[in-house]
Amino acid sequence: MEIPQEVFQKMSTAAREASARAYCPYSGFRVGAALLTENGEIVSGCNIENASYGLTNCAERTAVFHALARGARGFKALVIYTPTPTTWAPCGACRQVLNEFVSDLEVIRICNGEERIEQRLSALLPDAFGPHNILR
Ligand code: THU
Repeated sequence: MEIPQEVFQKMSTAAREASARAYCPYSGFRVGAALLTENGEIVSGCNIENASYGLTNCAERTAVFHALARGARGFKALVIYTPTPTTWAPCGACRQVLNEFVSDLEVIRICNGEERIEQRLSALLPDAFGPHNILR
Protein backbone atom coordinates (compact mmCIF):
# COMPACT_ATOMS: atom_id res chain seq x y z
CA MET A 1 0.00 0.00 0.00
CA GLU A 2 1.41 3.37 -0.95
CA ILE A 3 -0.75 5.54 1.28
CA PRO A 4 0.23 5.93 4.95
CA GLN A 5 -1.45 3.51 7.39
CA GLU A 6 -3.07 6.38 9.25
CA VAL A 7 -4.68 7.70 6.05
CA PHE A 8 -5.87 4.19 5.19
CA GLN A 9 -7.51 3.92 8.62
CA LYS A 10 -9.33 7.24 8.11
CA MET A 11 -10.49 6.18 4.65
CA SER A 12 -11.71 2.82 6.00
CA THR A 13 -13.76 4.58 8.66
CA ALA A 14 -15.17 7.00 6.07
CA ALA A 15 -16.14 4.10 3.75
CA ARG A 16 -17.82 2.18 6.59
CA GLU A 17 -19.71 5.28 7.71
CA ALA A 18 -20.80 6.00 4.13
CA SER A 19 -22.21 2.48 3.77
CA ALA A 20 -24.57 3.24 6.66
CA ARG A 21 -25.98 6.07 4.52
CA ALA A 22 -26.69 3.85 1.48
CA TYR A 23 -30.13 4.21 -0.10
CA CYS A 24 -30.75 0.58 -0.97
CA PRO A 25 -34.40 -0.39 -0.36
CA TYR A 26 -34.30 -2.93 -3.23
CA SER A 27 -31.09 -4.87 -2.62
CA GLY A 28 -30.60 -4.09 1.05
CA PHE A 29 -26.88 -4.15 0.23
CA ARG A 30 -24.92 -1.27 1.74
CA VAL A 31 -21.70 -0.30 -0.04
CA GLY A 32 -19.39 2.51 1.05
CA ALA A 33 -16.45 4.09 -0.74
CA ALA A 34 -13.84 6.68 0.23
CA LEU A 35 -11.57 8.51 -2.20
CA LEU A 36 -8.33 10.26 -1.34
CA THR A 37 -7.98 13.35 -3.51
CA GLU A 38 -4.69 14.75 -4.72
CA ASN A 39 -4.81 17.46 -2.06
CA GLY A 40 -5.33 14.96 0.74
CA GLU A 41 -9.07 15.30 1.21
CA ILE A 42 -11.14 12.16 1.91
CA VAL A 43 -14.49 12.16 0.09
CA SER A 44 -17.02 9.37 0.52
CA GLY A 45 -19.98 7.89 -1.31
CA CYS A 46 -22.66 5.24 -0.91
CA ASN A 47 -24.86 3.35 -3.34
CA ILE A 48 -28.10 5.09 -4.28
CA GLU A 49 -30.77 2.86 -5.79
CA ASN A 50 -33.83 3.71 -7.84
CA ALA A 51 -37.26 2.15 -8.42
CA SER A 52 -36.12 2.04 -12.05
CA TYR A 53 -33.34 -0.37 -11.09
CA GLY A 54 -30.94 0.49 -13.91
CA LEU A 55 -30.59 4.04 -12.63
CA THR A 56 -28.85 2.84 -9.48
CA ASN A 57 -25.58 4.60 -8.73
CA CYS A 58 -22.83 2.56 -7.07
CA ALA A 59 -20.95 3.81 -4.02
CA GLU A 60 -17.73 4.23 -6.02
CA ARG A 61 -19.32 6.49 -8.62
CA THR A 62 -21.13 8.49 -5.93
CA ALA A 63 -17.74 9.12 -4.29
CA VAL A 64 -16.19 10.21 -7.61
CA PHE A 65 -19.07 12.55 -8.45
CA HIS A 66 -19.12 13.93 -4.90
CA ALA A 67 -15.38 14.69 -5.09
CA LEU A 68 -15.62 16.21 -8.58
CA ALA A 69 -18.48 18.45 -7.46
CA ARG A 70 -16.21 19.64 -4.63
CA GLY A 71 -13.62 20.65 -7.21
CA ALA A 72 -11.24 17.68 -7.07
CA ARG A 73 -9.87 16.27 -10.33
CA GLY A 74 -7.07 13.88 -9.32
CA PHE A 75 -7.21 10.92 -6.98
CA LYS A 76 -4.61 8.86 -5.12
CA ALA A 77 -6.53 5.96 -3.61
CA LEU A 78 -9.97 4.43 -3.20
CA VAL A 79 -11.21 2.26 -0.34
CA ILE A 80 -14.31 0.16 -1.00
CA TYR A 81 -16.19 -1.37 1.92
CA THR A 82 -18.81 -4.08 1.58
CA PRO A 83 -20.62 -5.65 4.55
CA THR A 84 -19.58 -9.15 3.52
CA PRO A 85 -17.21 -11.84 4.86
CA THR A 86 -14.93 -11.39 1.81
CA THR A 87 -14.34 -8.34 -0.37
CA TRP A 88 -16.22 -7.31 -3.52
CA ALA A 89 -14.58 -5.95 -6.65
CA PRO A 90 -15.90 -2.70 -8.17
CA CYS A 91 -18.26 -3.07 -11.13
CA GLY A 92 -17.17 -2.37 -14.69
CA ALA A 93 -19.05 0.93 -14.96
CA CYS A 94 -17.26 2.28 -11.89
CA ARG A 95 -13.87 1.13 -13.23
CA GLN A 96 -14.49 3.06 -16.43
CA VAL A 97 -15.62 6.22 -14.62
CA LEU A 98 -12.57 6.08 -12.31
CA ASN A 99 -10.30 5.65 -15.33
CA GLU A 100 -11.49 9.00 -16.69
CA PHE A 101 -9.59 10.71 -13.89
CA VAL A 102 -6.70 8.43 -12.95
CA SER A 103 -5.37 5.37 -14.71
CA ASP A 104 -3.23 3.85 -11.94
CA LEU A 105 -5.45 4.51 -8.93
CA GLU A 106 -4.71 2.38 -5.88
CA VAL A 107 -7.91 0.44 -5.11
CA ILE A 108 -8.21 -1.20 -1.70
CA ARG A 109 -11.13 -3.48 -0.87
CA ILE A 110 -12.18 -4.12 2.71
CA CYS A 111 -15.05 -6.06 4.29
CA ASN A 112 -16.22 -7.45 7.62
CA GLY A 113 -13.71 -10.29 7.46
CA GLU A 114 -9.93 -10.32 7.48
CA GLU A 115 -9.58 -10.13 3.71
CA ARG A 116 -8.06 -6.97 2.25
CA ILE A 117 -7.24 -6.73 -1.44
CA GLU A 118 -5.10 -4.03 -3.01
CA GLN A 119 -5.01 -3.56 -6.78
CA ARG A 120 -4.23 -0.90 -9.32
CA LEU A 121 -7.03 0.35 -11.55
CA SER A 122 -4.81 -0.45 -14.54
CA ALA A 123 -4.97 -4.13 -13.48
CA LEU A 124 -8.74 -3.97 -12.93
CA LEU A 125 -9.29 -2.31 -16.33
CA PRO A 126 -6.48 -3.33 -18.68
CA ASP A 127 -6.15 -1.78 -22.13
CA ALA A 128 -8.66 0.86 -21.11
CA PHE A 129 -10.44 3.28 -23.38
CA GLY A 130 -9.96 6.73 -21.87
CA PRO A 131 -9.39 10.44 -22.35
CA HIS A 132 -6.11 9.79 -24.20
CA ASN A 133 -8.11 8.22 -27.03
CA ILE A 134 -10.25 11.31 -27.49
CA LEU A 135 -8.37 14.38 -26.26
CA ARG A 136 -5.68 15.88 -28.41
N1 THU B 1 -22.92 -1.79 -5.83
C1 THU B 1 -22.01 -0.81 -5.50
O1 THU B 1 -22.35 0.19 -4.85
N2 THU B 1 -20.74 -0.97 -5.94
C2 THU B 1 -20.28 -2.03 -6.67
O2 THU B 1 -19.12 -2.03 -7.07
C3 THU B 1 -21.18 -3.14 -6.96
C4 THU B 1 -22.60 -2.95 -6.61
C5 THU B 1 -24.30 -1.62 -5.36
C6 THU B 1 -25.30 -1.39 -6.44
C7 THU B 1 -26.58 -1.91 -5.83
O3 THU B 1 -27.18 -0.86 -5.07
C8 THU B 1 -26.11 -3.00 -4.86
O4 THU B 1 -24.72 -2.78 -4.68
C9 THU B 1 -26.34 -4.41 -5.36
O5 THU B 1 -25.79 -4.60 -6.62
